[in-house]
Amino acid sequence: MIKGFEFLLPTKIIYGIGSLQQLTEELKQFNPKKIMVVTDPKLISLKVTDKLEEALKGYSYIICDEVEQNPKDHNITKAAEIARNEQVDLIIAFGGGSPIDAAKVISILAAQDGDIQDYMHKKNSIKKTVPMIAIPTTAGTGSEVTFSSVITDTTEKFKYTVKSPLIAAKVAIVDPLLTITLPPCITATTGIDALTHAIEGYTSLRAEPIAEALGLYAVSYLTENLEKAFKNGNDIEARDNMMMGSLMAGLSFGHSDVGAVHCMAEALGSIYDAPHGTCNSVLLPYVMEYNLTAAEKKYANIANYMGLFGPNDLMTAAEGIENIKILSRKIGLPSLKSLNVSPEDFELLSEMSEKNSSTLNNPRPINKESYLKIFKRAYADS
Ligand SMILES: [Fe+2]
Repeated sequence: MIKGFEFLLPTKIIYGIGSLQQLTEELKQFNPKKIMVVTDPKLISLKVTDKLEEALKGYSYIICDEVEQNPKDHNITKAAEIARNEQVDLIIAFGGGSPIDAAKVISILAAQDGDIQDYMHKKNSIKKTVPMIAIPTTAGTGSEVTFSSVITDTTEKFKYTVKSPLIAAKVAIVDPLLTITLPPCITATTGIDALTHAIEGYTSLRAEPIAEALGLYAVSYLTENLEKAFKNGNDIEARDNMMMGSLMAGLSFGHSDVGAVHCMAEALGSIYDAPHGTCNSVLLPYVMEYNLTAAEKKYANIANYMGLFGPNDLMTAAEGIENIKILSRKIGLPSLKSLNVSPEDFELLSEMSEKNSSTLNNPRPINKESYLKIFKRAYADS
């Protein structure tokens, strides 16, 4: 019997090569008086924002480009104050996961007074938000279709998730052309983040059949195309398929959850401020090894969607995990050791991972001791 569930879709998705052009039409329905564009300064210097600014001609807008990677609480406080003072009535998030996650919580504080900490620590409930349009420029985050935002509490050095359908983008314009200028290393790290979303979304204890289908199908889009997009950034077909894989993976984990890889990666990102995709990539196969006994059938299905068919589920699943290690090496991803992580921090990192709410949805029960073993194993194998 399939357990009953709800599947919410508050975001209109506009997908396709060149779909950024449709922003002009979408803006008409919002009729904004003041827009805040939340973006990354690198995208401005690479002129990726030029097409966006073209579409914004005739509108009054301000640009907020001070959100850091692993967005911090103080980034949000500052941007939200500007948004309130300027009476911003529409936010456009343009970039990777950091600007989109930041825009989601700025949208709360732009609509009402308050402190970001109150929402991170669930002391305040979200009553209203300023509408937000998300335009991803990486094939990785999936944040354009999720209801959550991960923000670092810089005092506690801990990443908190703010979750509500109210912070979801009203419109997601998903245009693979925007990923053409992504350098190979960002293509690799964001691509592995998407693959982690697909695998964790599919295997999460909260996964229902729709999230499972989306996650599994995303595995095939992503694993077939990541190396191609890494080797040739201008391969538009590979970029297109990566973007679709990332979108489906976002829909999958957005409706189920992530698992132990993200719990560990978020702990690493909080302490070392390393890129989110990199943190996932150094841990993904080792968490899969740990989960194997509890998720043998699903991991075998994942391997099948990578085109691997072994003599039985266990061997097929193991082959799939090995394939992810090989793919990571082919696309130049680093190892845990190369992130200059100190083994002395493994205790703390394991404690933080256990505290992450997604720990509960990992397919195999996991606690601090198990996390510690995985960190040590990933480090020893580096
Ligand atoms: Fe992620």
